[in-house]
Amino acid sequence: MDMKLPDAELRDWLKPVPQRCPPSIGDILIDAGLLDAAAAARVAEAQHGRGMRFGEAAVQLRLLKAEDVQYALARQYEYPYLRPQDSTASRDLVAAFEPFGACAEAMRTLRTSLMLQRASSRSRPFSIAVLGAMAGEGRSFVAANLAVVFSQMGQRTLLIDADLRAPRQHTLFKLPPQLGLSNLLLGRSGTECIAPLHDFHGLSILVAGALPPNPQELLGRARLGTLLEQAAVAFDVVIVDTPAAGRFADAQIVATHCGMGVLVARRHSSDVGQLRRVHRTMVELGVPLAGTVLNDA
Ligand SMILES: Nc1ncnc2c1ncn2[C@@H]1O[C@H](COP(=O)(O)OP(=O)(O)O)[C@@H](O)[C@H]1O
Ligand SMILES: [Mg+2]
Repeated sequence: MDMKLPDAELRDWLKPVPQRCPPSIGDILIDAGLLDAAAAARVAEAQHGRGMRFGEAAVQLRLLKAEDVQYALARQYEYPYLRPQDSTASRDLVAAFEPFGACAEAMRTLRTSLMLQRASSRSRPFSIAVLGAMAGEGRSFVAANLAVVFSQMGQRTLLIDADLRAPRQHTLFKLPPQLGLSNLLLGRSGTECIAPLHDFHGLSILVAGALPPNPQELLGRARLGTLLEQAAVAFDVVIVDTPAAGRFADAQIVATHCGMGVLVARRHSSDVGQLRRVHRTMVELGVPLAGTVLNDA
């Protein structure tokens, strides 16, 4: 059976992104509901009269707080993050809610390390399986935040939830029930179920979809390899969340299709013996572990 996704779909993914003019700070602030049109006009007047930047003038007129201006600037520079009052995603997305905090910084360090390793093995696709031995170690947390920091860097990023047992990415990004990987692997959906995330410029997601009774058999289909191959062409980086590798072989299947793995362990909870076994399995499968994360939350 031919498992290739239709060429037309791939062409759609590869469509060049049209150049667009960055929106003005005023437009961003109005869109975000932080300023109304009349207030924006007052700011523009003061801006010109006093020879100031728009944001400075708005703060001086006490129409905005400095954090509001910082938020709008981040949007203008396509470095989007979310404000504490935003309810469009889970607070676990620390890279989006606290982009200047220690956890986001750790994610950026991991991102740099992965990019350096990618540069030295250019032949491999840049697909990263996020692995761990047991449930609750923080794989989904790391996968989601890593995807956010890659997209914040302007990389076209695809996050795939390949945990078809206890999927979590749809909850983290607060998405309604929708078609996803399981439906795609079954041939019941095409790549239209890969959705760009409105609040995260450059980040698309393929959620897990309906929970199948046979996740391992589904992941074992040739279609997963085809999907990951084509995704690696259409996106700069593909990050794949996986189920506990110490319990199921699903993660091994996913990891063999990815160019590299990242191993997540949780302080005071992960079992070192289990982690060693996952590590050994990945070595045997020829999947380089390009990074390890010691989650100390
Ligand atoms: N670094 C962290 N900071 C805060 N909470 C975390 C962190 N890592 C994991 N968690 C929390 O721990 C729980 C399990 O994490 P999760 O990513 O779902 O684990 P896994 O995917 O490995 O089963 C979740 O409730 C998540 O919010
Ligand atoms: Mg998980």
